[in-house]
Amino acid sequence: MPAVLIYGPDAAPTPQQEQQFFAGVRLPNGTFKTTSDRRLDDLNNAIAPHLPRRYPLRIKDVAVSSGISTLEWYGALTKAGIECEMTATDIWLHARLVEARGFRVLLDQAGRLLQIDVAGFAFQPELAPRKRMFFAAPIALAQRPQLLHRLTRHEYPVVLMSPRLLGNPAVTIVEEDLLAPTAGEWDVIRAANIINRGYFTDSTLQVIIRNLVGSLTPGGLLAVCRTDLEVGNRASIFRRVGSGLELVEELNGGSEVADLTAQASLSD
Ligand SMILES: C[S@@+](CC[C@H](N)C(=O)[O-])C[C@H]1O[C@@H](n2cnc3c(N)ncnc32)[C@H](O)[C@@H]1O
Repeated sequence: MPAVLIYGPDAAPTPQQEQQFFAGVRLPNGTFKTTSDRRLDDLNNAIAPHLPRRYPLRIKDVAVSSGISTLEWYGALTKAGIECEMTATDIWLHARLVEARGFRVLLDQAGRLLQIDVAGFAFQPELAPRKRMFFAAPIALAQRPQLLHRLTRHEYPVVLMSPRLLGNPAVTIVEEDLLAPTAGEWDVIRAANIINRGYFTDSTLQVIIRNLVGSLTPGGLLAVCRTDLEVGNRASIFRRVGSGLELVEELNGGSEVADLTAQASLSD
């Protein structure tokens, strides 16, 4: 199936096309933007009975990629009558779509090629390196800013989130690097498929966890999770008690970073 451009004035991607697009976007730090519909439903159900009882609940979903899991979580909470303010964050939100003569390219802020589209046939270099030969000419142009500029007809800023989320004013979107201390206080934070040993060293993970714990209200929840294709969502849910965390529930044996998370203490 050829990929489609999921951004731009005439884009109307299906959920499968969005999923295919995000799976092919790799960041300079080695993480992928992979996500999919209904990926975290069981985690949301496991969090529900532990939610603090203060409203509106301030909830932050971090490293959300397309943000579709955030939208699903918000939908489940409002359906259950839980009043909340939902914020979705990711390190990497902004890109630009360039319409040039004969092709279109999606570039990140550093000018890195994310997707190219010639006559309606789009592909991502990460997903299909063998097609690079076929698209060699437009790729070469896309990587020469001055030439590209000369051929450009229109250029649009785009936010790399699902159009389904971008069209929903209930969820606030914020750019955030988990390695930096962040503003705000949250009653619930969900970190799914980001605090992984495959992505970061233990000392970096400790920095991220400490930043997250530091922005939790007393009694607030931190849910950490990694989706394992065979086992399902391996998750641990913690509650902030004093300067540290207390484990309240686990799914499928718990998160691979449950040990690091349990050790997190703001008083060290
Ligand atoms: C695999 S996706 C997870 C998406 C979603 N949470 C899920 O479980 O379906 C990882 C996301 O982490 C983001 N990310 C990578 N490094 C980050 C950082 N230092 N701070 C915040 N987000 C980061 C990437 O942009 C990407 O969207």
